[in-house]
Amino acid sequence: MAWETVDRTKTVLDPEAAPVLSEAVREKIRSFFDRYETKQAALLPAFHLVQEALGHVSLAAMNEIAEVLEIPPAVVLDTVGFYTHYWTHPKGEKVIVCCRSISCETMAGGSVLQAFKDALGIAEHQTTPDGKYSLMTEECLAGCDHAACVLINEKLHKRVKPEDVPALLADPNNDKIDVPRSDLYDAPPPVEPASSPEGSGEAQHGDDG
Ligand code: FES
Repeated sequence: MAWETVDRTKTVLDPEAAPVLSEAVREKIRSFFDRYETKQAALLPAFHLVQEALGHVSLAAMNEIAEVLEIPPAVVLDTVGFYTHYWTHPKGEKVIVCCRSISCETMAGGSVLQAFKDALGIAEHQTTPDGKYSLMTEECLAGCDHAACVLINEKLHKRVKPEDVPALLADPNNDKIDVPRSDLYDAPPPVEPASSPEGSGEAQHGDDG
């Protein structure tokens, strides 16, 4: 088999292509800077924001994140590849993750997965032809006492049984959480200073000199 030579000195990105990150997303990423000692520390929230905006973190998006954070693109690439919840290629609009760890396995988790496969007509790691759902499995989803668990995007469904699958798929809000991910990164509102009780002795500034 012949060796394939890759020229690492040349970018695979089109330098003429339009930016993929909107100014609003860039501004939101910059808004994290005050909270951390380094700009690089905002990398994971930046991935969440970009994934929420674009569906996945493409090579072009990684390059632009590196620009905003003023770090090497290789650092961005290394980091995004470490986490399973960041996607570097297009995925379904909703990602179904069935737990495959022991508690869920003992509570028919395997049958739940099979029910999703049958209902969607896809196997694990596949996306439905209409781009609506991708199907994955993962180790423990941290809801063992509510097995079997299924995550749809960021919403955790507990005590799921195979017969629940059709209703879950029919629910348009099956992935909705109370607070959108991007809002979770908003700074909490400033705490109002407690008003001083009347006659507390603090200096009063009035027009009586
Ligand atoms: S084993 Fe399934 S959530 Fe922990």
